[in-house]
Amino acid sequence: WNYHITHFVTSAPDIRHLPADTGIEVAFAGRSNAGKSSALNTLTNQKSLARTSKTPGRTQLINLFEVVEGVRLVDLPGYGYAEVPEEMKKKWQRALGEYLQMRQCLKGLVVLMDIRHPMKDLDQQMIQWAVSSGISVLVLLTKADKLASGARKAQLKVVQEATAAYVGDIQVEMFSSLKKIGVDKLRLKLDSWFSQ
Ligand code: GTP
Ligand code: MG
Repeated sequence: WNYHITHFVTSAPDIRHLPADTGIEVAFAGRSNAGKSSALNTLTNQKSLARTSKTPGRTQLINLFEVVEGVRLVDLPGYGYAEVPEEMKKKWQRALGEYLQMRQCLKGLVVLMDIRHPMKDLDQQMIQWAVSSGISVLVLLTKADKLASGARKAQLKVVQEATAAYVGDIQVEMFSSLKKIGVDKLRLKLDSWFSQ
């Protein structure tokens, strides 16, 4: 697939406002500031397809992008952002849970975690939600450029061992939007999901 031709379709506050549940979707999930929107821009080779920011909580809606008709990439709002009021957090967590559990066309979930702080409670819950719904998971350890090569490999091993506990299809890779690490692996995984 040529991800460079991906274009924005729509934003929705919850699953009731999403377009028809047909075709195939792959969603990008992770804590606020993990680098989800940046990863989408890197994959598609577009500077500002998905909005990025230094401030956590930039993406607040479910954003849909179309690669070709019926093939979509989804940028989800980040979770775990402390500054968000409790009421909003609850509302958003419900919307996220609904999306993961009810969206029939969701084939794969890319879970992004900062390589320096992986596998927080909500990350684990996200993976659990996905695998228990039969959704394949690709974990990307983002901002790999922030660690030296030895520390990077050690973190990869730690997370690979931690995810081995889940019964399901899970792969873990390093990623950096800054240094373009892991982009090929991401592309290959998406190709395999979109080809099924
Ligand atoms: P929310 O939308 O708030 O959930 O955040 P997000 O996960 O979409 O993160 P975003 O892509 O907006 O990136 C957050 C910050 O991390 C920005 O300042 C990015 O420039 C930075 N960042 C993203 N990817 C990388 C990376 O690979 N390396 C480094 N060093 N910084 C990165
Ligand atoms: Mg974002």
